[in-house]
Amino acid sequence: MGGFIFIRSNKNIDVLPLAKLALSRMEFRGKDCSGIAWIENSRVGIVKDSCPISELFTRYSLSDMRMSVVLGHTRYSTHGKADSRNAHPHTDCEQVVAVAGDGAIRNYEELYAELVDRDHRVVSKSDFELVAHLVEDYVRGGLSYARAFAEAVARLEGIVAIAALFRDGSAAIYTSHQPVYVGLGGDVVVVSSTLSSLYSMVSEYTSIEAGELIFISSEGKIGFAGIDGNTITKSFLVYNLKESLVDVDGFPHHMMREIYEAPYSILRTASAVQARYLELASKIALKSNRFFVIANGTSLHAGFVFSYYLSELAGKVPVVVSASEFPLYYLESVGVGDAVLAISQSGETSEVVRSAYEARLRGATVIGVTNNINSRLTRFSNIYLSIAAGPELAVPATKTFTSTLTLLYILARSVSEIASKPTSEILSEVWREVEEVYRVLLGNLDRVRLEVEEASKSIANCSSGYVVSRGITYPLALEGALKIKEAAYIHAEGVEGGELRHGPIAILDRNMFTIFIEPLERGAASDMLKVVEEVLDYGSPTVLISHTSNDEKTSLAKVRVPSLKRHFMPISIAVAIQLLAYSLAVRKGVDVDKPRRLSKVVRTQ
Ligand code: AGP
Repeated sequence: MGGFIFIRSNKNIDVLPLAKLALSRMEFRGKDCSGIAWIENSRVGIVKDSCPISELFTRYSLSDMRMSVVLGHTRYSTHGKADSRNAHPHTDCEQVVAVAGDGAIRNYEELYAELVDRDHRVVSKSDFELVAHLVEDYVRGGLSYARAFAEAVARLEGIVAIAALFRDGSAAIYTSHQPVYVGLGGDVVVVSSTLSSLYSMVSEYTSIEAGELIFISSEGKIGFAGIDGNTITKSFLVYNLKESLVDVDGFPHHMMREIYEAPYSILRTASAVQARYLELASKIALKSNRFFVIANGTSLHAGFVFSYYLSELAGKVPVVVSASEFPLYYLESVGVGDAVLAISQSGETSEVVRSAYEARLRGATVIGVTNNINSRLTRFSNIYLSIAAGPELAVPATKTFTSTLTLLYILARSVSEIASKPTSEILSEVWREVEEVYRVLLGNLDRVRLEVEEASKSIANCSSGYVVSRGITYPLALEGALKIKEAAYIHAEGVEGGELRHGPIAILDRNMFTIFIEPLERGAASDMLKVVEEVLDYGSPTVLISHTSNDEKTSLAKVRVPSLKRHFMPISIAVAIQLLAYSLAVRKGVDVDKPRRLSKVVRTQ
């Protein structure tokens, strides 16, 4: 993941300081590596390294240079480690073009084999380098730069946003899913992955959406087109982002920005899965004597959902246990033939890392699942699967949770089908499913947020409450309660619906809320609706998170989550409970990105 900026001055003015400023403003998208490309003697020149942009300027004395056309990038490594070779921009064998991008190219292996076969020198492990060689290939075949770029991006599968700077100073930009912004100000044209990075540089802007391209000629003329080649007309809007929102890309907090990233993040996850590692992990899981899943906090809740996925799809029931509890109970007996799936978005949580390490010492095979491929967990794992959600800055985990669920679903699917289908086929099928989830989530996010904001009013004054569900959505009740505690400082407990009458119901009154997550299992759903009636009688302010619209009760605040295939419903519900926790936190004035006493990585002694 990462972000790019293209800036061009039509009056030959130095735009390098603007590029540096814009890139530093999008470092929330990653800053493991950075790089700059420009035109020099009819070739593209590039400097890049494994450091943030400000350090790149110091290391390479960039402030002494002057450039009127710049392509820059800042990167978060999701595969291919953080080093100068994997940093963007990339170029081709003859330095015809510099390419920088964001996303993950699904058909990397196929394109790599094809290009190497045609004698291209691919020097990095970055999937985006292949785009430079593909463009070069089409240029060699006689196409114009613009046409070569369009042909090249049409070959890409996955989620990608790409900018290319050609050696004649022209540029082309494409996006498969996420918006890319184009701004105009004075004599400069700025194209960026984020809207906020255009701040103070442009007076008007527009964006390209899924499947659209921008071409900027060497004279600075701008054109828009669809991937089919048809010209598109765009209208520009006045740029008026508030200065205070620049660091959070126009959102009030990183937590909200990250919840809104979920649709793109799940696509990145599905796109970044590498077939050979998925296949290996699936075979290890399938053949293991005992299959443990260890994690903490939100990642543990993802592990609980995984146990439903794996038992329903593959008929294998894993032992899911807190990584803190694992050494006290199971570790002694772990040995050769056992497998441990260790989930940690940070890859640095002490209990997870230590338990994974100890289990490996005892002969178990460790599969790491992490969002940080430069972490200790990846080092201690036999193999790892990348969550590939990009950096998450808010302490409450949101997009990493939805992406982890996506990855674990893919793993469960693969375990269940590995014996009968090639992994590439499984991944293509899953990709189509995840694209559908992306479309539905994106189309419903604003509506769900408005319903959540309305519903949160009715429970915001309670000092405590329950989040209740059953079946595959029960772990979501645990996750909802955790999110409300850490983000809004309100005591909340996740309760299995059938257990409510076995004690917890005794203390319900008007000061205690109950949030019901409607179960997916038919019998459980109707049973729970009876409990809802009872809870309402006790005066508990109640919210129903529902995926159906059959309940007519008016005394109930309702949030309708989009209905998806069963195994994707935890993702749909996760977004709603994250928004609910966020809304409660904002009502209470909590610094939601940095809750007290908590840190993004929990390290114990
Ligand atoms: C999540 O919102 C919390 N901040 C916390 O529970 C977290 O999930 C837990 O500490 C585990 O983190 P990890 O996934 O980085 O290991």
